Order: sequence, then structure tokens, then C-alpha cells
Amino acid sequence: MNRGIEMKGFYFGVDYYPEHWPKARWKTDVKLMKDLGVDVVRMAEFSWSKLEPRKDEYNFGWLDEAIELLASQGIKTILCTPSAAPPAWIIRETPDIQPTDIEGRRRYFGGRHHNCQSHPVYREHIQRYVTAFGAHFGKNPNIIGWQIDNELGNSHADLCTCPYCESRFRLWLQAKYCNIETLNRKWGNAFWSQEYRCFDEIQAPKITVAGRNPSAILDWRRFCSDLIVDFHQFQSVILRKNAPEKFITHNMMGFADKVNYYDLGADLDFVSSDSYPVIFMGKQNSPKYARVAAESDLMRCIKDKNFWMMEQQSGITGWEILGRAPKPGQLGIWAVQAIAHGADTVVFFRWRTCAMGTEQYWHGILPHSGIPGRNYTELKEMIAEMRPVMAEVQGTVPKPEAGIVFSYDQEYGIQIQPHHPDLSYTEQVLIYHMAFYKKNIPVDIISEQTDFSKYKLLIAPIQYILSPTLADKYEKYVKSGGNLVLTMRSGVKDESNLCVTKLPLPGLLGKVLGLEIPEYDCLRDTSVQVSWKGEKYTAEKWSDIITLTGAEMLAQFSSEFYSGYPAITKNQYGNGRAFYVGTEPTEDLIDRLIKELADELTIASLGKTPDGVEITARGGYVFVINHTEQIQKISVPASWEPIVFHNADTIAPYAYHVYKDKAYFIL
Ligand code: GLA
Ligand code: ZN
Repeated sequence: MNRGIEMKGFYFGVDYYPEHWPKARWKTDVKLMKDLGVDVVRMAEFSWSKLEPRKDEYNFGWLDEAIELLASQGIKTILCTPSAAPPAWIIRETPDIQPTDIEGRRRYFGGRHHNCQSHPVYREHIQRYVTAFGAHFGKNPNIIGWQIDNELGNSHADLCTCPYCESRFRLWLQAKYCNIETLNRKWGNAFWSQEYRCFDEIQAPKITVAGRNPSAILDWRRFCSDLIVDFHQFQSVILRKNAPEKFITHNMMGFADKVNYYDLGADLDFVSSDSYPVIFMGKQNSPKYARVAAESDLMRCIKDKNFWMMEQQSGITGWEILGRAPKPGQLGIWAVQAIAHGADTVVFFRWRTCAMGTEQYWHGILPHSGIPGRNYTELKEMIAEMRPVMAEVQGTVPKPEAGIVFSYDQEYGIQIQPHHPDLSYTEQVLIYHMAFYKKNIPVDIISEQTDFSKYKLLIAPIQYILSPTLADKYEKYVKSGGNLVLTMRSGVKDESNLCVTKLPLPGLLGKVLGLEIPEYDCLRDTSVQVSWKGEKYTAEKWSDIITLTGAEMLAQFSSEFYSGYPAITKNQYGNGRAFYVGTEPTEDLIDRLIKELADELTIASLGKTPDGVEITARGGYVFVINHTEQIQKISVPASWEPIVFHNADTIAPYAYHVYKDKAYFIL
């Protein structure tokens, strides 16, 4: 169900854990929140042991008091179901609620997410708790909505492979394939004697001696995602029965891969997102602020409407190891960046740095001492400046002319068989996003289900697993005048993750692209040279060795045994054009490609800025954000009326400016 309840008039909030602090402190907290400019708090996502200390013995009183106290200052509440942290008494009663990993080992109580999502006894506990919780809090007008669980899919490297999950997986397969012969065929089980005689022979995929069946693993990943969506729905049905007028949202995690966010989004009134810009994530191609922009672009597009930032970084991050301290101004620009990309409300995680538990060093707005410091002062200033802007931009989204397709099937397919050890599907999506971002060209990150016709330019990286329906959709988009960029390893697999054999590569896309790919090369420990009208570039990881059957060559490989063969092509098809990039271009090559396309298609940029300075527009407002530690030169059109503004020609380190220009008012 997707009721689409709107939630206007809330701008800033905090994630609050009153149960971690003496009651005598609560009043001070609420007063400080009020002074900061807080409209809303989120509470109770991990509070089960305090709310139901023993079976059927509910202790909702302390939470009622906290809600009341907040309400006395006009602050509303979002309450969460606590299913990410079942209490010890539930685990003691039924230990096999604790999940089983792919090595068949149990994961025990003592952290969080120590629960299987299929276990019938766990579902009974949830049914009981959420019913009582919904009945008790559902009538409270100070509670505006619910968050179910917390970051579903988080902490689960492999979800759970216990017998309950295994039998659910069998039922899922049975519903999908009807009979075992079809499954054997679709999974290619003739290979290595993997044929089954009945569904009961199928196991949840655990660790094997050698290799795993890519078709089986793809279905397992899809099943796990469906299980998470089902787990969410199991709770949303109960809450909606009790309180149909309150919204339901969920805090997603950008490009996290455990659950298909488009499917989960369908059960939400609006999407929420968690964002920690300084977490160190290992080697990435793009700066973190560009990645955060991409995450917000994805969050906005999941339901094609504004989202809430439910956890926005508010201090140093860290569990056992700590991150860098946010520089003066950074907390503010991160929040403004989220707003610029479509967040209607920003909730900071967390109100006060916790004195106990795993997250003692995941810093909040207030330090351990509870005495407001730099984080508080900086955010207070930003909130005061942005509050009037928030009131005006609420409900408006940018309407980019370019879109990038992001798909969970491609993510799973490439994770299962990355080809090159460093190839990542998400990184491919991000390097194309980065090319638009650097030029201040607004871009959407969309699902395959989206109506493509609203985009002048569509980039669909690595369409590795391709259904005939999707191939047809791409073809129709181009035929009717669209400009489509497809990239390496497209049209390789069918939906069952079997290699396409009826056509040469790129399979069903050969016609629209006007080319064939009889050979390819995986660039292990090397790169390849590409030349484009005399300019030299480098590309990495993969080369498709292309034969043109109608397309023209834009750029060519200029090293390796396929020197002279096309690397980037263009095919006129119907009223549109289909481009193909048969490799992973490095930054300057991708920049050139996107620049040429944007110029040719007159896709508007919001302005030229130095590296690290972004311009984003929404609802008649333009946001200029300096993500660097240097003062940067900017020049803005005379038509932009300064609203939040410090200098005319420069922007300070980690600062933002806000301007008004009616030209950017698109509802
Ligand atoms: C996530 C969770 C929070 C908290 C933070 C910090 O985003 O949702 O509960 O754990 O990370 O670790
Ligand atoms: Zn399980």
C-alpha cells in the first residue's frame, strides 16, 4: 500500500534517547532543543527491553512522559518499532531466533540485529508488541508517524540461512518456478550435477567447497530482499490498522545492497535516509561529498518525491575507531546539501553523545557532558538561516533533464561475478553521476521502472542482466527521440543469470546500438589507451572488442591488440541516438563524453564552479555549497537574489550561499 501521506511544516529534528539519561535532565534537553530550532524527535527504535521488560508487561509510561514534555514545547514525535534489537528474554526463550550465517554459525545476542526475519516465534513477538504499541500510541496526536525497525538490511552480511529461512526460500522458489524441471533449467543445474528432484532438496546457499551457482545466488539475493520487504509489511499492516492517519517511513542507507529500496519504498509514505559524510568507506573514485549528493538523488527518485534525512551526521563518527572531526561549517553544509537535493526535513543523529554502549564515540550535537559546544552553535545558526527557506521549498523537487539508471539486479549480478576484481556496479553509476555533478547539471538516479521519456539523456551503466521487456523499453526510448548511453557488459545475461546465446553480444541491445561484440578483454593489472579525435585518454578494467554494424565510431582504443577498434560509439536509431562505451573510462574521458552530450542536447548547467563547489536548485532557490577548505571564487548571475549570503565573488571554506531565482521554480 502506498498512501503517500504528506508531512509538511517540519524542518529540523534530532534522534533522541531519553532512556539513556536521568529523567531530571529531560527538561534541560527539551529546552535546549527548542532553542536550537527542533520541530521533531525520533525515539525508541532500540528500546524494547525498556518498553516490555517481561512478556506482556508493557512499560510505556516513561515514553508517554517524554512525548508529553516535548509536546509542551511544540516538538512532535516519530516513534519506531524496536524489532532490530529483541531483548534478552525473547532470545533466552527461543535461542534460534538468533540468525545463522553462511558458515552455519549462529550470530549471538550482545550487539543488535540479532534476529532472523522468518522465525515464526519472532514474528509472534512482533505481532504482539507492535499491536500493543500501536494501540497505546496510535491515538496520541503528538506522534506524527512511525519508523519500522532501523536500517533494514544493515549488519546482515548474508541475512540468515536458518531452517526457517531455508523453507521460506523453497516456497519462494516454488511460487516463482512452479515445478522443479523449470528451476533446474533456469539455474543451469546440469552443470556439476546440481539438479534437484524436488524443492525440498534445495538449501539456503551456505559456504561451499568450490564455487557457487550464479543463478541460485541471484535468486537468493532477490529472496532476501523480498523477505526484508515482507518483514516491513508485516509491521506496517498492524500500525496502519491502529493509526491510519500517521505516516510510515524507513531510514535507508544510500546505495546499500541488502534490500531493493524501490520495493521497500512502495510500502512507505515517504523515504527517509541516513547520511554520514565522513565515514571512511575504503577506496572510491569520487570524493565523499559527490557520493552523498548521489545518495540523495537516489533517495529523492525512489518515490519521485521529497524525502526526510532521518539521521544526519552531527559530530565525529566512530565505534571502536574514530573519524575526523567535522571542520567548522561542515555540519551545516551537509544538511544544506541534503535540503538542496530534496530533503524536506533534516533530523540529526544523535542529540547527545552516548556515555555507554557500542556507540560511545558516535558523537551527537551535544558532547558527553551535555554542555552545548561548537556543533550546537553551528547547527543553531544554520537552522535559523534555513528555516524560512525550508518553508518555501517544501514539496518541490528538482526536475533534471538527465537520468542514470540504478538497478539491484545489476548490483547483484556484478557482485556475484565482478569479472575484474575491482569492478563495482555502484561505482560505475557513481562515476557517471560525478561527471554531471562536477558540471552542476542536475541528474536523477532512477529505477528501470521509471518513465524514461521525461529525460533528454539517459545513462544506463552495465545492463548486464537484461529482460526482453527492459531491452524493448530502451529501444522504444531511443526510437522516439531519446539519447541513451549504454556501457560495457550489457545484454550479457538473461533474468536467470544465464549467458545469452541466441544472439552475439550485446544480445538484445545489438540492434539499437548498431554493433556486435565478438570478443572482449579483462584488463587485469593494466589499463588501455583510448584516443578521441587526437586527444589521448586512459580506460580501465574491461575492453569490449566491437564490430560496427551501423553505428559510427566516436573514440577508439589506441593500445593492445585491438588498437584501432571502437571504444565509444554512436548509433542513430529512429528519432534518437544510442551510445555505447565499451570500457570503464577514467575521469577526463567520462567528463568529455558527458560534456559533448550535454552541449549537443543543450542540457542546462546551473553554472561553472571550481572543483568542490556545487550548485543545486530546487523550488525557486539556488544553493551554492563550498565543500573545500579554501575560499573559492564564484560568479553568479545578476538575476539571483541573495538570501543567505556572505560575499559577492567568493564563498568561504565549508560555507553555503542561498539565492532566489524564479527560473528554478519547478513543482
Ligand atoms: C546507523 C544507525 C544508528 C546508529 C548510526 C551510527 O545509521 O541507524 O542507529 O547506529 O548508524 O552508528
Ligand atoms: Zn532465519
